[in-house]
Amino acid sequence: MKRKKRSIETDMIHNEYQTGENKGSLSFPIFQTSTFSFGSAAEGARRFAGEEEGYIYTRLGNPTVRALEERIAVLEGADKGLAFASGMAAVSAVLIALTKSGDHVLCSNGLYGCTYGLLQMLEEKYRVTHDFSYMQTEQEIHEKITPETSCIFVETPINPTMKVIDLTMVAKVAEGYGIPVVVDNTFCTPYLQKPLDLGCDIVIHSATKYIGGHGDVIAGLVAGSDEFISALALSQQKDIGGVLSPFDAWLLLRGMKTLHVRMDRHSSNAQEIAERLNNHPRIRQVFYPGLPQHEHCSIVQRQMKDSGGVIAFELDGDQKDAQKFMDQLKLIKIAVSLGDAETLIQHPATMTHAVVPEDKRREMGISNRLVRLSAGLEAVEDLWEDLNQALEK
Ligand SMILES: Cc1ncc(COP(=O)(O)O)c(C=O)c1O
Repeated sequence: MKRKKRSIETDMIHNEYQTGENKGSLSFPIFQTSTFSFGSAAEGARRFAGEEEGYIYTRLGNPTVRALEERIAVLEGADKGLAFASGMAAVSAVLIALTKSGDHVLCSNGLYGCTYGLLQMLEEKYRVTHDFSYMQTEQEIHEKITPETSCIFVETPINPTMKVIDLTMVAKVAEGYGIPVVVDNTFCTPYLQKPLDLGCDIVIHSATKYIGGHGDVIAGLVAGSDEFISALALSQQKDIGGVLSPFDAWLLLRGMKTLHVRMDRHSSNAQEIAERLNNHPRIRQVFYPGLPQHEHCSIVQRQMKDSGGVIAFELDGDQKDAQKFMDQLKLIKIAVSLGDAETLIQHPATMTHAVVPEDKRREMGISNRLVRLSAGLEAVEDLWEDLNQALEK
């Protein structure tokens, strides 16, 4: 049945959840079970044969997890969603599903450090090669596509440099070759950016971040076509087994209900901080999509609803100065991750991107004096006071 189109804010809260089936509980029940009993041996056989709908075993599907998967599909405008035990479980499942030995993956020139590490491992062990592209023009993408390229993998904004890639352009080039485009949409969430609407094929989230929103769960989500997600469920999820627990799925369903409100606040706090940092004499450069001098300002305005909660900036000085500054912070916590209620700061060169060799880091734009700040939900004046006193020191 075709559903009437609603606004994304309403879909984050309601989706298709039928309270009547669950004794009126507005909070989705947690089906904390590993297995499901069958009415008869024949029923069990029919379910295994795929002749009858119904749950079998939580690694193969669970009602709470399914509710989450349906919700991410609705929000991303996809046919289907699939939940994983972490963002990296989602990234690895998708990359393994789309490649075989001898294939090639074309990536944005900047990726989360562990995605970079995974690509290294796929190359060393399985001869799946990869290449990077700034993807600033169609020509740049054409030049890096080979007959072996089996998918294009893009982060935008890129972690942690906040460079932005034009997804419509990438999708258009990829379509000419029949290559799927995978987008890691962690930094934006579907509230700020909808890659499938821009012509891309598969969306990945580290739901650990904004979708969970409270820093209390590690999770990953994938959304895409019925065909791709059904195959992914059967191969990667069932047989590799990095599934999400029902309780963690429930935490994400809860987090999603406030996603739009939180993203608005993360974005407005980040915008204010980025502008103030930009005018501070101790700051060399600020990288934030909401600043008018951002190198991809026009793409940001076209493809993102707002600029998000992550800012990267370089301090005057070197790595030691950046670390000294971080050590002076009182309210803001030194921690990796992002999208939490608390404002977090980290040093990519020695933390999230330490696995990337230094020359490659430099090429990606990650200097040793770069720090990444995830603006939380606190009062912006308190955050600024903390940053300012640390900068003064
Ligand atoms: C852009 C991006 N993708 C994927 C991941 C991996 O997610 P997880 O830590 O949930 O495995 C991260 C983690 O920081 C990330 O920032």
